Amino acid sequence: MIKEIKIYKGDIIFCESPDKFTTLENGYIITENNKIKETVQELPAEYSDIEILDFSENLIIPGFVDIHLHAPQFENLGLGYDNELLPWLENYTFPEEAKFSDTKYAEEIYKKFIKALYMHGTARSVVFSSLHLESTEILADLFLESGLGAYIGKVNMDRNSPSYLTENYKKSLEETEYFIKKYNKPDSMIKPIITPRFIPTCTPELMDGLSKLSEKYNVPVQSHLSENLSEIEWVKELHKEIETYAGVYNHYKMFGDRPTIMAHCIHNTDDEIKLMKEKGVFVAHCPTSNFNLSSGIAPIRKFLDNNVKVGIGTDIAGGHTISIPETIISAIHASKMYSVYADRTFHSLSISEAFFMATKGGGEFFGKVGSFEKDYEFDALIINDNELSGGSNKTIQERLEKYIYFGAKEDIIKMFVSGKEINRERF
Ligand code: GUN
Ligand code: FE
Repeated sequence: MIKEIKIYKGDIIFCESPDKFTTLENGYIITENNKIKETVQELPAEYSDIEILDFSENLIIPGFVDIHLHAPQFENLGLGYDNELLPWLENYTFPEEAKFSDTKYAEEIYKKFIKALYMHGTARSVVFSSLHLESTEILADLFLESGLGAYIGKVNMDRNSPSYLTENYKKSLEETEYFIKKYNKPDSMIKPIITPRFIPTCTPELMDGLSKLSEKYNVPVQSHLSENLSEIEWVKELHKEIETYAGVYNHYKMFGDRPTIMAHCIHNTDDEIKLMKEKGVFVAHCPTSNFNLSSGIAPIRKFLDNNVKVGIGTDIAGGHTISIPETIISAIHASKMYSVYADRTFHSLSISEAFFMATKGGGEFFGKVGSFEKDYEFDALIINDNELSGGSNKTIQERLEKYIYFGAKEDIIKMFVSGKEINRERF
């Protein structure tokens, strides 16, 4: 195989661990066949003949990773937040998702959705579609064309939903298996993920079937967990025999038996948190959504202290923004209010902890993604912050802080995903 070496120069910043940034002013990232070979301050002599992609004076940061969002809710951004979760689903979410039985509508909205991810620097995402197979295939094909990376789940729901958005469990399983077989390819940027909506909308038969598919095809799982107190009461009523909400997923072997993401995780018991740690379940922390729907504040410090993996999710349209920087800010705000109003012993999240979650933390779900360490896939954003931070002597970390809090998507001038530049003309 031919070795293709590329060299990127600029002001590099990333997080290897949550507690600190690694920065290299006028540093170099050297990639070989789209993976990082080394990230260095001085260019080794062996590379002196190779042309440098020179982004001097710009920031080079890892592409963002969003591990929880709903593509068919894109049109609902900002709508209905006078409701809490269950009436919001009924009055806003389900009627909008039902429109995706129309593949023309799906194509129109999904194009806008993927463009928005690109414009905001989200290189990788873990996405819920709707229950409609054909529209989900359209979503997957559009992602493939875009060059962005994604796990995509056809939603499964066969009870406690409006008749216009309820499946027969056998058909639901057949269609899910079809989708898995079509898209489960080793080197693809797009992968299937098993997606029971949440326990209240999935019968035991459906859960059993999905669990078998997950095992048969070795496919990961995503769902929602302990987002809202009424939701948790409902799950208790539906599954009196099982002690906890997480226990229900675990009962069906869909709680870390394969890689698993659970969105929200606001009101979990200590036993549930212990189980998440033991089984390596990822928490998708979705603070904007949790504020909008009055769901609560997830105790992220507790997850971190217990070595539970945490990534960031925008949860659109529970979240009102697809921007990861805005969601990072929300995560930090949420943790600050938690430490004042709920538990003074909880230190709020630092900027590096929140940035870690939005890059390497969530990126771990994709493999070696979200950092500039050796062997990582080269996912990067080039950020022109000359106007934002020019004219004063700021450290690279300060420039990143400024970009996150006061920058805009227009400051992103280039995006690379798995070593390939994603051109604006594609969208
Ligand atoms: N729980 C079940 N479905 C949903 C959804 O679409 N959004 C959110 N935020 N929570 C859910
Ligand atoms: Fe969600």
